[in-house]
Amino acid sequence: MLTLLHASDLHFGKPYNATAGEAFQRAAQAVAADLIVVSGDFTQRAKVAECEAARAWLDRLPDVPVVVTPGNHDVPLYRVFERLFAPYRNYRRWISDELDSVIRVAGATLVSLNSTAPLRAIVSGRIDRRQLRFAARAFRDAAPADARILVAHHHLAPAPDYEGDTALRRTPEVLDALNDMEVDLVLGGHVHRGYVASSLDVCPNTDRGRGIVIVQCGTTTSDRGRAREWARNSFNVVRITAERLDVTHYLYFEDLARFAPSSIHALPRRIGRHFLRDAFEAPTAPRTDEVAEGAGAAERAVPQDTAR
Ligand SMILES: [Fe+2]
Repeated sequence: MLTLLHASDLHFGKPYNATAGEAFQRAAQAVAADLIVVSGDFTQRAKVAECEAARAWLDRLPDVPVVVTPGNHDVPLYRVFERLFAPYRNYRRWISDELDSVIRVAGATLVSLNSTAPLRAIVSGRIDRRQLRFAARAFRDAAPADARILVAHHHLAPAPDYEGDTALRRTPEVLDALNDMEVDLVLGGHVHRGYVASSLDVCPNTDRGRGIVIVQCGTTTSDRGRAREWARNSFNVVRITAERLDVTHYLYFEDLARFAPSSIHALPRRIGRHFLRDAFEAPTAPRTDEVAEGAGAAERAVPQDTAR
């Protein structure tokens, strides 16, 4: 099993909430994740002091791979000259020199794409075709059984509430491309509340198989939580096995003075376009061919009559 800790929207600077920040550090030690994802907005205004504080906080996390991606707040909004000519200067110095990156761990390939667009789509973001080709090459080289995970700051599916947000530009095109890459999971932030969605929420009218799971994280350490997470803090734990993907959503509770689980979402892994047949069936004695052939047998066990 692969355990992944997903935080987002730290917003070091005025909105940063040190109580939540310290509570997350304690939670990170307790979860014992194999890797950590922080999906953007490390800072409020991309200032040096904010970046330094974010870097110091990141350096205190458990010693596992940390996947990062810039958010729109990691690009200077008001320092226009800097935004035009060196928008990622502070991000690259303090958070990560790579804007698009690939990380491979046992059981998963993660591609992190920079969805910020400092010149034109600073709020709604964009992922361009060059980046999609970059992701396609990385996933092409993934081991067949790897979970394929895309990380981007901007959300690829709307929140299930009544506060409108402009989704990433050309979202259906991006999701179609990710579907062709057989991406299992997209991790994002930006809208400051956590939810689990599907690419089918955005692209319901054509045949896209069972869709891609989209997991959004709220703001883990700032006072900018919105809608269902108004002034709240949250993070996700994602546990991935060969057969299923479980997402636990954690909220900070003041009366407990810690983060605690608030919902659990269980989803079957997909093989190509389909659900794995038996991810949620009651445990039964394994068939002899599954015992003999190992995990790969599960893929081949998808029956033809469930081809849709
Ligand atoms: Fe944010």
